[in-house]
Amino acid sequence: MRYDEIRTPSYIVSEKTLRKNLEILKYVEEASGARILLAQKAFSMFRVYPLIGKYLSGTTSSGIFEARLAHEEMKGRENHVFEPAYKDDEMEEIFKICDHVYFNSMSQFERHLPVIRKHSDVKVALRINPEFSTQEGHEIYDPCSPSSRLGIRLKDMPEKLPSEVTGLHFHTLCEQGFEPLCKTFSIVEKNFKEYLKQIKFINLGGGHHITKEGYDVEGLIKLVRYIRQEYGLEVYLEPGEAIALDAGTLVTEVMDIVDTGDIKTLILDASAACHMPDVLEMPYTPPLIDYDDDGVKYRLASRTCLAGDVIGVYGLKKAPSVGDRLTFGDMAIYSMVKNNTFNGMPLPDIVLEKEDGDFELVRRFDYSDFKERLS
Ligand SMILES: Cc1ncc(COP(=O)(O)O)c(C=O)c1O
Repeated sequence: MRYDEIRTPSYIVSEKTLRKNLEILKYVEEASGARILLAQKAFSMFRVYPLIGKYLSGTTSSGIFEARLAHEEMKGRENHVFEPAYKDDEMEEIFKICDHVYFNSMSQFERHLPVIRKHSDVKVALRINPEFSTQEGHEIYDPCSPSSRLGIRLKDMPEKLPSEVTGLHFHTLCEQGFEPLCKTFSIVEKNFKEYLKQIKFINLGGGHHITKEGYDVEGLIKLVRYIRQEYGLEVYLEPGEAIALDAGTLVTEVMDIVDTGDIKTLILDASAACHMPDVLEMPYTPPLIDYDDDGVKYRLASRTCLAGDVIGVYGLKKAPSVGDRLTFGDMAIYSMVKNNTFNGMPLPDIVLEKEDGDFELVRRFDYSDFKERLS
């Protein structure tokens, strides 16, 4: 279909930008020997898994359904999973469909030992907490915050790793450059050195903004090579954002223009609460294409009845009219994986902008997607 046939609201994912990101990640894999996994929690648009699977080594999951999705849609690639706690009745399936399973505590590891022992072909790792925070301000995204439940602290590690454990995992970053990773690894190396000698693979988690302009890709390659050579380890990275960074937009329509005292407010058919929850959760103001800092300011808000469902205040190039389209940038990640139908809002269409310029309607949702989650 053509661009003007796209209905609003729609997430539009660009195949070209995805491939550009994947080429950078493939370069890192080839130059460093690292294996890179897609963290599905950020981006699970399985229509493009065949493309992603051509470049990356596999996926990582945060729950049984993500693991099942990867098993079904990215066949032949690695399937890793980490959950802070696993349900007993999910373990058989997890061990059948995943090749790497990560545990968050010694008690979880011990609880599931019978299943672990039955599946000796599946590699097992422990998540550690390096207790080294590299970010300020976003405590909910900091796995090293003082009361974090994520990862085993050094004081709680066993003296020697159980024979079933052949890997370690840490995830401590969020939208960060190479420097914080480098510092974190030096802490891990100092405090967990004895354990590095007992394992075969290490997973450095996600949060690496590898595809962002200015990221020190060569520094990362050097670090991975060092870890592989010094400790003889297979090294994994599991970014989510970096795979689909800047690869998607959310296109929306102006439905009404209301006078709200200070400035005018545009009522849009897209919602921060429903379609881009990170805008309220982080919180942050998403980029708007055709934003003009010097233009007249408008408050962009949603048609839900949540008073705080406001996306932000933006200057616009020209005075908007009802029916105009506005497009938010960087909307592939942590958007469609987190959306919801609060207020009975329809979910946006999912559209793929193909490399040949055509637009493919990948998925259109309807009333049943709302009703079937209720009873
Ligand atoms: C364990 C783990 N791995 C990977 C990721 C992906 O992080 P990002 O999308 O920031 O790269 C996350 C994000 O929260 C995570 O918790």
